[in-house]
Amino acid sequence: MKTLLTTSALALLALAGTAQAAGKLTLYCSPQEEWCQLMVTEFTKATGIEVAMTRKSSGETYAQILAEKDNPKGDVWWGGTGDPHLQAAEEGLTEEYASPLMDELHDWAKNQHDAAGGRTVGIYAGALGFGYNTELLAEKGLTEPSCWEDLVKEDYRGEVQMANPNSSGTAYTTLATVVQVMGEDAAFDWLRALHQNINQYTKSGSAPIKAAARGETTIGIVFQHDAVTQRVGGFPIKPMSPCEGTGYEIGSMSIIKDARNMEEAKQFYDFALRADIQAMAGSVGAYQVPSNMGAAPPPEAPKLEDIKLIDYDFKKYGSSDERTRLLSKWDKEVNAQ
Ligand code: G6P
Repeated sequence: MKTLLTTSALALLALAGTAQAAGKLTLYCSPQEEWCQLMVTEFTKATGIEVAMTRKSSGETYAQILAEKDNPKGDVWWGGTGDPHLQAAEEGLTEEYASPLMDELHDWAKNQHDAAGGRTVGIYAGALGFGYNTELLAEKGLTEPSCWEDLVKEDYRGEVQMANPNSSGTAYTTLATVVQVMGEDAAFDWLRALHQNINQYTKSGSAPIKAAARGETTIGIVFQHDAVTQRVGGFPIKPMSPCEGTGYEIGSMSIIKDARNMEEAKQFYDFALRADIQAMAGSVGAYQVPSNMGAAPPPEAPKLEDIKLIDYDFKKYGSSDERTRLLSKWDKEVNAQ
């Protein structure tokens, strides 16, 4: 009996030791909440590591990491548009890391890693566009918008929603995209005209298409895969790819400089690059293109090869100077109007 007790006590102690050794991780997450939750559940299931997760938009997360730079509270920043990840890399807010899984990734994901001096990596890609509520459009007798130029028509007064580019990576991608498609002067004329049609600038990038699904706005400027999510969810939403061509994101992941849980951060990083883990995204309605070549894109994912994509200059628009300059110009010349 005595021996038995001792053995089980020892076993318990060993278990407690394992739990402690499994550690914890603070995750800053910028894609859709459902996907963030899935990653937390799966990572804890696989490793026993407890995860404290916060979902915030890309620009907001960048600002938080900057504000916490002398006393970092987060360990990994997973997802969100690549531009603010590149800015964080340039400003030394994130840590250099080369995962053993790098060879499994598409070139665009590796290029993102190179562009950031190893401080970020591509985890998914997705094209920008917009979507509209087909029922509302018909009810209001409006014509279908198919180009960026269409969105500034007077007919759409109060019918368009987009996010604020300061908080949202989606909206910053929109800003940088129209600058690249139209040239900066014409783009700012367009943004000022668009401002007349905007009913609300939301904090999060996908909010406008969720609002369109609920019938609160007719058109939402979002990533095309976010419009697909609403359509698959049964809402009368039609995703559109703008006729002039459009930009795209390389959704990225970075380890925060001087992370308190550095070992766990690297474990999460490697885990998030695995083909089987990336392949789970479709099950929660995340229809981006995965960066691991071994993970097939969900069948619902918009096919990037069928979309007229511009040669988005990530180096320029992800640089600290350019992102800061464009955002303050947008604040002054568009939002303050
Ligand atoms: C959505 C998209 C992601 C994108 C993210 C950016 O969740 O599905 O592909 O990276 O928005 O979020 P944000 O709120 O920063 O625009």
